[in-house]
Amino acid sequence: MRNKITIIGAGNVGATAAHWAASRRLGDIVLLDVVEGVPQGKALDLLQAGPVDGFSGHIKGSNDYADSADSDVVIITAGLARKPGMSRDDLLAKNVAIVKSCAENAAKHSPRAVLIVVTNPIDAMVYTAFKVSAFPKNRVVGMAGVLDSARYRTFLAEALGVAPRDVNAMVMGIHGDNMLPLIRLANVAGVPVTDLLSREQLDGIVKRTQHGGAEIVNHLKTGSAFYTPGLAAVEMAEAILTDSKRVLPCAAYVEGEFGFSGCFLGVPVVLGAGGVERILQFALTDEEKKAMAESEAAVRKQMADTGL
Ligand code: NAI
Ligand code: 2OP
Repeated sequence: MRNKITIIGAGNVGATAAHWAASRRLGDIVLLDVVEGVPQGKALDLLQAGPVDGFSGHIKGSNDYADSADSDVVIITAGLARKPGMSRDDLLAKNVAIVKSCAENAAKHSPRAVLIVVTNPIDAMVYTAFKVSAFPKNRVVGMAGVLDSARYRTFLAEALGVAPRDVNAMVMGIHGDNMLPLIRLANVAGVPVTDLLSREQLDGIVKRTQHGGAEIVNHLKTGSAFYTPGLAAVEMAEAILTDSKRVLPCAAYVEGEFGFSGCFLGVPVVLGAGGVERILQFALTDEEKKAMAESEAAVRKQMADTGL
């Protein structure tokens, strides 16, 4: 039997995730939205790429959660996106209500699924989905670290003139200005970037990564990034569906890891059939600990604002 993936929200990120999921042959896809016609039209268009691209999974657009029944993975992208001048926090109140209804319905119709939450502000929205779904912590995870790390790796690769895939680098903490792109552990095929770039260059890359989302919003003016966010969510879904034990930075529920408890924070996790199977811990420097504590404080403020 083929895997089943439901993507809630057929907007820019959701539709792009469906595209990546189809091209990666992840299984049958349900694209679901509240707006009548949009998921149906986009799904039909994508389905018709099958003969050309070669995928054979079914793709259905819907406004009815019954069509999402028994999904293995549910990706929640429903919500409002950032506009210029709007912070991720501005979105909070409106998106809490949307994510609540999505998580409730996802849990009801797909009780064994792993939920991947994308909607912003992500660290609070993944907490909302966790509370509302009442799923165990391993089956609720937020997407941000894969995207932020991809941006970090891209900027490092450009500065170094090397293939982006050979750059190993990770962003931890919140998906916001306090995120922590780790310089100390970033490397190119094992060679530390600190041996290849100046501190000034690295600081510039860190800053650009921290504001990577806003840089794209400022170009687009009417929305936010979607190609890499859609792919990042699919990368996580693929790791879960194929039980590949990929190690990816994700927003995971911490219970003592890195000294934090009771919230979702961006940390390196092992993703497999069980969802978040393990958090990989390592010793942080004092500077990194301070940055993670700042992330945690910002996440806790968002969590309080959800009222949950
Ligand atoms: P979009 O506006 O293109 O699409 C959102 C879709 O959600 C719309 O089609 C809308 O009709 C739908 N929707 C609204 N309420 C719904 C409900 N109750 N049930 C089902 N569908 C509903 O926005 P876009 O660009 O796709 O972004 C979606 C979200 O993802 C935003 O909150 C954005 O900030 C966030 N995002 C998060 C990233 C991350 O790194 N975690 C990266 C990029 C975007
Ligand atoms: C991003 O980082 C808007 O959070 C979104 O692109």
